[in-house]
Amino acid sequence: MRFVPTEQLVPGMILGQDMFDAMGIKLLSKENAITRENISYLEFIGTAGVYIDDEISKDIALKEVVSPQVKQQAVALIQDVFSKTEDDDALEPEERMIRLVVENVVDDVLADENVMYNIIDIKTYSDYTYFHSMNVGVLAGILGAKMSLPEDEMKDLVTSAFLHDIGKMLLPDHLRNMERRLTPQERENLRNHSQLGYDYLTEKFSFSDRVNQAVYQHHEWYNGQGYPNRYKGKELCRNARILRAADQYDTMTSKMPYRPAYQPADVMEYIMARTGLEFDPQVVKVMSSQLCIYPIGSEVVLSDGRHGIVVENHIGFIGRPTIRLMDTGEEINLRGDRSAYNITITQLLV
Ligand SMILES: [Fe+2]
Repeated sequence: MRFVPTEQLVPGMILGQDMFDAMGIKLLSKENAITRENISYLEFIGTAGVYIDDEISKDIALKEVVSPQVKQQAVALIQDVFSKTEDDDALEPEERMIRLVVENVVDDVLADENVMYNIIDIKTYSDYTYFHSMNVGVLAGILGAKMSLPEDEMKDLVTSAFLHDIGKMLLPDHLRNMERRLTPQERENLRNHSQLGYDYLTEKFSFSDRVNQAVYQHHEWYNGQGYPNRYKGKELCRNARILRAADQYDTMTSKMPYRPAYQPADVMEYIMARTGLEFDPQVVKVMSSQLCIYPIGSEVVLSDGRHGIVVENHIGFIGRPTIRLMDTGEEINLRGDRSAYNITITQLLV
């Protein structure tokens, strides 16, 4: 299987994966040939691309940390919980479901000790918030596992990641506008979502204070220049420090109607440059070894002009995966092959 950006899809390509929206409705079926109408639709809903199966990629299996079923379950649940912020009903059934899905995510993350974050983003504009919250949950979970968090703290971390932006649902609609950049005044008003989210969670759910605090603090910076309270360094709870980095990574690598997605390698570099300012050095250190800036199945351009598909990543050496060349099918291990010492990756096609 390999990932093909929407603008490079050609009718007749065979889909490698089912595609669902946040409600769990199947938009496209695997093994079907993609049509011109499908491609126009994917462009319309703002999907970065899809997985396809072809001769060169048929034996490449994606390494999914969390199973597609559990991810789907998480997105649908987040959508459901976020849509209930105007109801007065008790949310005990939702809370039970959140605990169950979080347990599934944490089980999947802990099942593989060589776990890396290997996701290519396929969210749509309209379901952005739900897919974003799920991605942040998976990435935060992996970082938490690598930082050896106890299991109960891991569960709290993933719970707060799923719910970190729930306060946005309590703000006027226009502040959630995805069609354009917000004005400075709108951005200022949006900052209330940390406090609103905290108040809402405290009132409606009985999660631990660690969950609520991480939601409250998820925009605080390590150097004390974040909001709402300008907490600094270790005054910040550990889960909030993990969330800040995971949230920023997924936001910047997402395609928006008013800007393209940033390259994961560039985002990682940005996060590394802001170590000790916005981000906790310990979190960045773990992130820089566990996060696949070139996920399996993605197409890259090499410094000698050739194109290849990423077939394997090496923990700790995220910039030098193993590549299968598109023209010959030959594989180059950018970490291990001495003859590849002068080859680098110059671009990821997303
Ligand atoms: Fe936020």
